[in-house]
Amino acid sequence: MRQLLAACCLCIVTAISQAQDAKRGQYLAAVGGCVGCHTEEKKDAVPFAGGRALKTPFGTFFGPNITPHPQAGIGGWSEADFIKALREGTRPDGAHYYPAFPYTSFTKIVDVDLRDLYAFLKSVPPSARASQPHDLKFPFGFRILNMVWKWLFFTPGPFVTDASKSQEVNRGAYLVQALAHCGECHTPRNFLGVSSRDLFLAGGKSPENKGIPNLTPTRLKKWSDPELIQYLQTGLTSDGDSAADPMSEVISNSLAKLTSPDINAIVGYLRSLLPLPEDKK
Ligand code: HEC
Ligand code: HEC
Repeated sequence: MRQLLAACCLCIVTAISQAQDAKRGQYLAAVGGCVGCHTEEKKDAVPFAGGRALKTPFGTFFGPNITPHPQAGIGGWSEADFIKALREGTRPDGAHYYPAFPYTSFTKIVDVDLRDLYAFLKSVPPSARASQPHDLKFPFGFRILNMVWKWLFFTPGPFVTDASKSQEVNRGAYLVQALAHCGECHTPRNFLGVSSRDLFLAGGKSPENKGIPNLTPTRLKKWSDPELIQYLQTGLTSDGDSAADPMSEVISNSLAKLTSPDINAIVGYLRSLLPLPEDKK
């Protein structure tokens, strides 16, 4: 009887901790903006059921269905499969993902957060919506090229805390570099789509070749902390302007949902960066 009781308690404790993990994962998914790339751009679209068109210089990608549907989504995946996808950019069958899926940033997500993200995605309603194939220019349709790209340009591995920096700056660095993947847009890339390591957050280019601002103190020193916090939470600037797309979407899907300590950590980290000149290319 005692044993039975103990087993039962363990069961309840496990159930509770799993529920908590999914809740934590929901917050992490918001920070990561997963819903934006994995949900069709139409009214009443099922969240995470895929179909969002993502235009890039290499063609159009369609975010796949990542609901727990066993065939259409990732319902058949193990937790290890999920971790491998985000950490290594590799599909369960060994094929290589395109970096349009920002695993170049997500690789830095730590294990406990990856597990909670997985628990959350397992808890969303499954959708049978089939993922559609990407529409890419020749020769980018060949996934094998991603293997070469990764081999040349991708270093997998979780975020490592910098002991010389404060806890807040480390938290901000983690959010910016890993989950919130700010560098995917705010860092210049070369013609192979490779982000510059030396010019991290020095400003990028949109697929339409429009400039994306520098986030190092070179530019942001003009903003006070309250101005920056207001912008990140609402998209509003002090002169009454508002953030344009896609930053407005980053704010509504992601930054607006962050806790104040996390927003402050992002600001603290951006303030700690070396001032870098804008990319001239
Ligand atoms: C900037 C857009 C973008 C964001 C943000 C994004 N993804 Fe994706 N994701 C993609 C694309 C595009 C693919 C398909 C890549 C491919 O086919 O090579 C993908 C693929 C995936 C896959 C593999 C699905 C499969 O069927 O093989 C998983 C799992 C996934 N994403 C999870 C996430 C999670 C979790 C988040 C948030 C933390 C997230 N994604 C955020 C664009 C995005
Ligand atoms: C999908 C691409 C994308 C991502 C991801 C992204 N941004 Fe942006 N961001 C932009 C664009 C484009 C603008 C310019 C918006 C405008 O012109 O109104 C911008 C503007 C900004 C600005 C205003 C800067 C200025 O001087 O006008 C700040 C601050 C900013 N982003 C911070 C961030 C942070 C912090 C993150 C990560 C949490 C982030 N962004 C993620 C695309 C992105």
